Amino acid sequence: MSLRPAAAVLALATALSAVAAAAPAGAPADLGGRIAAQGLPSGVPACSGCHGADGGGSAPLQAPRLAGLDAGYLADQLDRFASGARKNDTMAGVAKALTPDQRRAVAGYFAALPVPASPPAQAQGDLARGRALAERGDWAVKAPACAACHGPQGLGVGATTPPLAGQSGAYLSAQLTAFRSGARRSDTLGLMNGIAARLSPADLQAAAAYYASLPARPAASSGAAR
Ligand code: HEC
Ligand code: HEC
Repeated sequence: MSLRPAAAVLALATALSAVAAAAPAGAPADLGGRIAAQGLPSGVPACSGCHGADGGGSAPLQAPRLAGLDAGYLADQLDRFASGARKNDTMAGVAKALTPDQRRAVAGYFAALPVPASPPAQAQGDLARGRALAERGDWAVKAPACAACHGPQGLGVGATTPPLAGQSGAYLSAQLTAFRSGARRSDTLGLMNGIAARLSPADLQAAAAYYASLPARPAASSGAAR
């Protein structure tokens, strides 16, 4: 029996641990986590600077919560910022600096983060009207209940329909206004554009205020569920 293979394995192991040691202290091992916390030398800023270290978002910066959103939805939105299909100067720069693979990696990272507990937010708007729109819609203007697509508590459904509960009222209202004007095109069917266009600005504000007041995570399932 020769000692050579064992020595080669040892040398390889030593080399690998040297590579691992060269990574900055505290850097998350996976690419998505690294992008989120530190950005990339290619000109990608750390997402955490605006979206928070826990992915909970920042109301003053109108940066939405990303933690616990569907990975497919997040990656799709990054693709749209990059292509210009969804317009936002800040996020266009960020998304264009990421390769498609990096977009998927960072989307997967945020999707896997637990939903931070959000204290009910106060937002200006008619909460009773917002709740009526959320739960029943308004057939006089052919607006379906928001809950039909966004889920009964606004928690979102699958890769297509994002959660609304616990996002800041300012962010929700800005998005609804953008859907109404067409500055943000939704899916190919333009579902959200049609709905937002049929509601008045006061109704959009009411719906935004109502959803901002709902917890991002239902109290009953606060431990395990995202
Ligand atoms: C300088 C602040 C800033 C930085 C840095 C930043 N974002 Fe954003 N992000 C925003 C703002 C503001 C919006 C809301 C854009 C809009 O109004 O359409 C946003 C929106 C998003 C959305 C859309 C979410 C939704 O619910 O539709 C995604 C996805 C996103 N950002 C991902 C990222 C990722 C990933 C990074 C890091 C690579 C990042 N952002 C870095 C400010 C920032
Ligand atoms: C027919 C299904 C449907 C109904 C009804 C609906 N939505 Fe949506 N909504 C969507 C889809 C799909 C998207 C994702 C659009 C995209 O991909 O850009 C969306 C996105 C949104 C967003 C953007 C969230 C984010 O994270 O950026 C907001 C805000 C929103 N909807 C609010 C509402 C409100 C308020 C109502 C009720 C007045 C409503 N929606 C009714 C399907 C629906």
